[in-house]
Amino acid sequence: MSTPTDPWHFPRPELAQAYLQGFDLGLTSARGLFARRRMGKSEFLKHDLLPAARKAGYLAAYTNLWDDTEHPGQALATAILLAVQPKGLGRFWEELNTPIGKLKGGAKLPLGFDASMELDLAAKEKAAVPAIQAALQAADKANKRLLLVIDEAQVLAAPQHKAVAHSLRAGLDIRKPAIKVLFAGSSEAALREMFSRSAAPFYNWAPLEPFPLLGREFVEATVRQPGQRCQAAAEAGRCAEGLCRVEGDARVFFVGTSSAT
Ligand SMILES: Nc1ncnc2c1ncn2[C@@H]1O[C@H](COP(=O)(O)OP(=O)(O)OP(=O)(O)O)[C@@H](O)[C@H]1O
Ligand SMILES: [Mg+2]
Repeated sequence: MSTPTDPWHFPRPELAQAYLQGFDLGLTSARGLFARRRMGKSEFLKHDLLPAARKAGYLAAYTNLWDDTEHPGQALATAILLAVQPKGLGRFWEELNTPIGKLKGGAKLPLGFDASMELDLAAKEKAAVPAIQAALQAADKANKRLLLVIDEAQVLAAPQHKAVAHSLRAGLDIRKPAIKVLFAGSSEAALREMFSRSAAPFYNWAPLEPFPLLGREFVEATVRQPGQRCQAAAEAGRCAEGLCRVEGDARVFFVGTSSAT
């Protein structure tokens, strides 16, 4: 996985600023971005957008709903809580409607939970609706704007997650000036379903647009990496598919060029 100090990371500060400025202008409080698999969405969101948002004074929450597609409610509540009051996470769940001590089961806990606690994830997902509302209330107290980034957001379009989606939508509706939301996904069709079906909770809630793909600059920057054998990458800059293979590093980039879209 890439890290902020990853020497191979190609930073995209202008793109991050463009999204933040869009929110600052106030024209919309939410946006939906789609691109095919392996096009650099998550890397950009985590390593460019989130740091830029924090620098601009936002609290920044990120969750990838593919980490656990069965329990998006917990993932969302946990992500918001981690951004607004990271130390109170264990107590937060204890204070919810379903007392944590009564929950049972041995499933693995999502990131951020005390690993010594054994909880039934299905039971916790039932607590997810009040958990999301409580997490949003905690965000209200933070006195800072929050950027909520929901990666693989199309998971919320599944019928079994309708209650969570409704709850999230209701909570976000009344906090548009304070909470900006970026939905991202690799399935354009599923994201469109989420925002264009009139019965769906997020109907018409965010404009959906393509995520700008890495282009020639990325390939050129990769080729300039010192000490690397990147002939194939140089060729990639000329190929319509924009495939950049960095040999000798066991690292392969699959990127689309803007011209290929
Ligand atoms: N800005 C970047 N700089 C360097 N490498 C990148 C960059 N963006 C993407 N990559 C490379 O491409 C890989 C795929 O990127 P990423 O996981 O962000 O794609 P994705 O669009 O989120 O894919 P998926 O839809 O499968 O989640 C990364 O693991 C990394 O190796
Ligand atoms: Mg991704």
